[in-house]
Amino acid sequence: MDATNPAPLETAPAPLEMRPRRGFSLFWRTFFFLSLLLFGSIVAWLQTFRALESEPRAIQSAQQLASLVNLSRAALRYSDSIARVSLIKTLADEERVRITPREPKDKYELFESDELGERTAEELRARLGGGTVVASSVNGQKGLWVGFAIDGDSYWLLTDPSKIGPSRNSTWIIWLITAAILSLAGAAFIARLINRPLKQLSFAASRMRDGDFDASLLDEKVATSEIREVNIGFNRMAEQLSKIEQDRVIMLAGISHDLRTPLARLRLETEMSVSDADAREHMAADITQLDAIIDKFLDYARPEPPRLERVSLNAVVDAAVYAVADYEDMRVTVTIPDDMAVLADEVELSRVIANLLENARRYGKTPETGIALVDIAAKARDQWVLIKVRDHGMGVAPETLSKLTRPFFRGDAARTAATGAGLGLAIVEKTIHRMGGVFGLANTGSGGLAAHIKLRRN
Ligand SMILES: Nc1ncnc2c1ncn2[C@@H]1O[C@H](COP(=O)(O)OP(=O)(O)OP(=O)(O)O)[C@@H](O)[C@H]1O
Ligand SMILES: [Mg+2]
Repeated sequence: MDATNPAPLETAPAPLEMRPRRGFSLFWRTFFFLSLLLFGSIVAWLQTFRALESEPRAIQSAQQLASLVNLSRAALRYSDSIARVSLIKTLADEERVRITPREPKDKYELFESDELGERTAEELRARLGGGTVVASSVNGQKGLWVGFAIDGDSYWLLTDPSKIGPSRNSTWIIWLITAAILSLAGAAFIARLINRPLKQLSFAASRMRDGDFDASLLDEKVATSEIREVNIGFNRMAEQLSKIEQDRVIMLAGISHDLRTPLARLRLETEMSVSDADAREHMAADITQLDAIIDKFLDYARPEPPRLERVSLNAVVDAAVYAVADYEDMRVTVTIPDDMAVLADEVELSRVIANLLENARRYGKTPETGIALVDIAAKARDQWVLIKVRDHGMGVAPETLSKLTRPFFRGDAARTAATGAGLGLAIVEKTIHRMGGVFGLANTGSGGLAAHIKLRRN
């Protein structure tokens, strides 16, 4: 790779937070399983009911049909041929029962399509004699056909198949839908009930991760004993952490602040009472350095959360670059599209860029020229803006890469040069996290260190 050509932003190792999260939320998972369970039980219950109900229904329908056939048969048998005609007509008109002679060449399909039909046909044969045929269509005409014989003559009796078919009544479907809707609502309610305390806990934990210890205290009076205990434990932990954090902030700020006064006095005394110009210069430089270290301490201990707003990345970077424009040993190249805006705290973001530029000037000089070449690039991807600040120095040993953001960690080169406090990158990482972003460091392929920043786009 060309040394002046900035490495693409993608070369950054993807930190864990960047990976897309998979899976359902607890609510949907619980809801899904509960619904499955309820649906399963409704179906099983329905099947049981149908199985229990089908036997008595088959017997009942068979009895009714058998009586109908027997009555028709008796009426036909004991009527003369003229009365028979009007009997058949009356039956057809008033009872919707048709009786026709049965021919041996008639083609019919047996009425045994389902279990109920089969059971009814069996029952009918038992009642009316072995020769009885129950058919669902004869010569292509559909209906409930019963074939029987009177004195050697065969007849078909045609009637409505609903007499034995499954009930056409649709109330059961309405009940089924009502049961399903009630089950779904119940499942949603139970899932919510289980999920709510966990959601509150997760929210409180996320607030705490962002350094907000007092914001969301969990309810210590909930009815469920396990959840009550978790909430009480969590609240105590948050209180402890809050106290530790407060102590830390007060102590650091106090020390830093109290050091300033004697330091200012010392600076004045050095100016006035040290006669050797060389020694005076060195002492003044040391005092300036001490002052800078105290600044870093104060930055690191800063307790208030950042105020996030729309910040123009172009403006922040331009200002930071302008501040270092006078340095002879530094050259900064900026490649940022116009009107790039991020969700950040302007002051804090400036501090981040300034820290990275300071590091590049201190540790990232190209060995041959002694000049720090820095590339600042940014690009938008989805709802994020990826910013990269890289130099063309020596980079760092791979094993120390992960330690650089620890507070007070300084590399070997930095130790001998005795410049910083080792807080710069710790401040950078903490600030980026507090602004909801991601920070990562990597050695580039062509040498030099690259800092990758991912912030929300705005
Ligand atoms: N651009 C870089 N190239 C090589 N090494 C670097 C670079 N930036 C930082 N480092 C290493 O990381 C260490 C930690 O950096 P950090 O900014 O946290 O502390 P510092 O610069 O030493 O002190 P401070 O920033 O508090 O004044 C440095 O001491 C240095 O060894
Ligand atoms: Mg630094």
